[in-house]
Amino acid sequence: MQEQLKSMEAEALAALEAVESLDALEEWRTTYLGRRGRLSQVLRGLGALPVEERPAAGQAANEVKARLDAAYEARRAALERGAKEQAFRAERVDVTLPGRPPSLGRLHIATQTLREIYAIFGQMGFEVYEAPEVESDELNFQALNIPPHHPARDMWSTFYTDREGVVLRTHTSPGQMRLMRERCPAGIRAIVPGKVYRYEQVSARYEFQLHQVEGLAVGRNIHMSDLKGVLVAFAQQMFQGTRRWRFRGSYFPFTEPSFEMDIACVLCGGGGCRVCKYSGWVEILGAGMVHPVVLQNGGYDPAAYSGFAFGMGSERITMLKYGIDDIRLFFGNDPRFLAQFG
Ligand code: FA5
Repeated sequence: MQEQLKSMEAEALAALEAVESLDALEEWRTTYLGRRGRLSQVLRGLGALPVEERPAAGQAANEVKARLDAAYEARRAALERGAKEQAFRAERVDVTLPGRPPSLGRLHIATQTLREIYAIFGQMGFEVYEAPEVESDELNFQALNIPPHHPARDMWSTFYTDREGVVLRTHTSPGQMRLMRERCPAGIRAIVPGKVYRYEQVSARYEFQLHQVEGLAVGRNIHMSDLKGVLVAFAQQMFQGTRRWRFRGSYFPFTEPSFEMDIACVLCGGGGCRVCKYSGWVEILGAGMVHPVVLQNGGYDPAAYSGFAFGMGSERITMLKYGIDDIRLFFGNDPRFLAQFG
C-alpha cells in the first residue's frame, strides 16, 4: 500500500504542475482528493491489510493527503494571483492619454426662440407671467366668453381629463383671466408663455403640443393702434426686417374686433408649399381688443378700461425664422436637427 500511495502522490504532483487554470485545478482536486478520487480508492484497501500494518499505512495516507492538500492550496493561490495580474494588465488605464471632451448640451431651439420673444417684449415693458398647463374649463373657455356648447369651442380641439371641468389648456389665453383677477384694478402689461395641447391631426404645420406666448395689456386708453404698433415692432425685431407681414380680419370670442397676423412664407418664397397651405402666408398669431365681457369677468369696468391681447405660436415663428419645413422636428428629439441651432 505504501508503494501505491507513493506512486499516486508522484502522479498527482506531476499532474498538478500541468494545471494552468482554476477550472482544471478543480478537476484535479476531484480526481485525486475527491470522495471517489484516487486517494480514497487507495484507502479503501486499508481494511484488507493485516491489523498490525494498518496504523503505519493509515498514517502514511494522512501524510500524503496533507502534502497534496498543501500543494493544492499553493497552486490555487498562484493561479488566482496570475488571473488577477492578467486582469490588471488588460484593464490598465493609461492616465497620460488626453481625455475625451464631454459633449456639452445646448438650449433647445424652442427655448431659444422663447427667450428671444421675452427679450423683445421685455424691452417694451412686458413682464413674464406663468400660468398652469392643466386648467379649468371655466378659465380656458367660459370666462373667455365661450360658454359650454358654444360653437367656437370647435376652434380648439380639446384634451379633456378624467376630472369633470379640468382640461389641458388649449391656448395660453386663460393666463389673461388669471392676470386680470390677480391684478385688478392695476394696469397690466404681460406675456404668458408656455405649452398648450390640442387634439390635433399632426402634420408639417400642426402639432398636438406647442408653445404659445400670450400678450395682454389692460389700462385706460389702450387702442387698436397700440396693439398693431407692438406687433409690428415685434415682427421687425424677430425677423430683423426681412419678412413681409399682413393683418387679416378674424374672429375670437374673447376679442372684438379680432384679427390674425401672417408672415410671408420663407420656405417657398411665396410660391406655395405644405407649410403655408399653398397660400404664400403663414399665420403666426391671433389678436384683438379684449372683449368687454372678458374685461368684466376679469374684474375691470369696460366703460373705464380697455385692453388688447394676442396669442402667438412660437414654433411657427421659429420655422419662419430658420426655414424649418416641418413642425414635427421640434419634438422629434433628433440630435442631427437640434445640433444645428447652437
Ligand atoms: C388662439 O389660440 C387664441 N388664443 C389666440 C388669441 C389670443 C387671439 C388672444 C386673440 C387674443 P389660434 O388657435 O389661432 O388662437 O392659435 C394661435 C397661434 O398658435 C396660431 O396662429 C399658430 O401660430 C399657433 N398654433 C395653433 N395651433 C397650432 C398647432 N396645432 N400647431 C402649431 N401651431 C399652432
